[in-house]
Amino acid sequence: MRHLLNPLDFTVEEIDELLEVAGDIEKNPSKYAHVCDGKKLATCFYEPSTRTRLSFEAAMLNLGGSVLGFSSADSSSAAKGESIADTIRVISCYADICAMRHPKEGSALVASMNSGIPVINAGDGGHQHPTQTLTDLLTIHSLKGRLDGLTVGLCGDLKFGRTVHSLINALVRYPNIKFVLISPPELCVPEYIREDVLKANNVEFKELGNLDEALPELDILYMTRVQKERFFNEEDYIRLKDCYILTPKKMKLAKPDMYVLHPLPRVNEISVEVDKDPRAAYFRQAQYGVYVRMALIMKLLEVKAPC
Ligand code: NCD
Repeated sequence: MRHLLNPLDFTVEEIDELLEVAGDIEKNPSKYAHVCDGKKLATCFYEPSTRTRLSFEAAMLNLGGSVLGFSSADSSSAAKGESIADTIRVISCYADICAMRHPKEGSALVASMNSGIPVINAGDGGHQHPTQTLTDLLTIHSLKGRLDGLTVGLCGDLKFGRTVHSLINALVRYPNIKFVLISPPELCVPEYIREDVLKANNVEFKELGNLDEALPELDILYMTRVQKERFFNEEDYIRLKDCYILTPKKMKLAKPDMYVLHPLPRVNEISVEVDKDPRAAYFRQAQYGVYVRMALIMKLLEVKAPC
């Protein structure tokens, strides 16, 4: 039985295959409408979510399966003190696969160790968010036609942003990827990403404070929200929350084929006027999340793509 806790749980070949299935799903959705008939997905969300939970649910419904679950810790037995280990043991009796989001780092790993069904990490604290990464890879691949030889700018909260950590983890495996890490010093990438992921893989990267300086060289700009819920004090959040705001004026500094991605939700970091720019790809990205989660559910349930 396979789980998805970290993008590295899949080989590059497996990821390529998933993206290929997702691409076929986009073109021929009706072909996949019954491949998961009779299967159930449990969505266990102990933290707020719009896109991740609903795109998982839409994905399973599109495959002919059904969904059950909870969308906050308060409405589950976690509020009574139940452990993740016990919860997943029970959910294994009710569903065939589980997507879990939890505020604690490592929670999906604990669940996987006690589960009778595949567990998908739908975000564990400030650690990893591998299905957002699959979404990001599919989006980048369909916009740029490749995942190698790209200069990728990551901007905003690189410390607490789990989507950033997972995306870096995944992209370092493709040749000639360069990163420009744009953040205030307080929100720079964690040490383990810099040392064990970037340096250990000999990946070219630089850390900058200034977005304008970075923009002209980027092929992809990945904007992120300052992660309010992970701050220890509100003062720091207020001081840092608007550190970067992408505007149409700044977009003039970027290449004509530099695409802007954002895992969403957006707060202030991209002005709504940028939405009209054809290079703004974040809403398309949210749509791709459904296709790639469909492909992922099929893979973990060992359902073959129909011919
Ligand atoms: C992200 C998350 O939950 O980490 N959202 C998402 O899943 N699309 C990003 C965020 O909340 O800022």
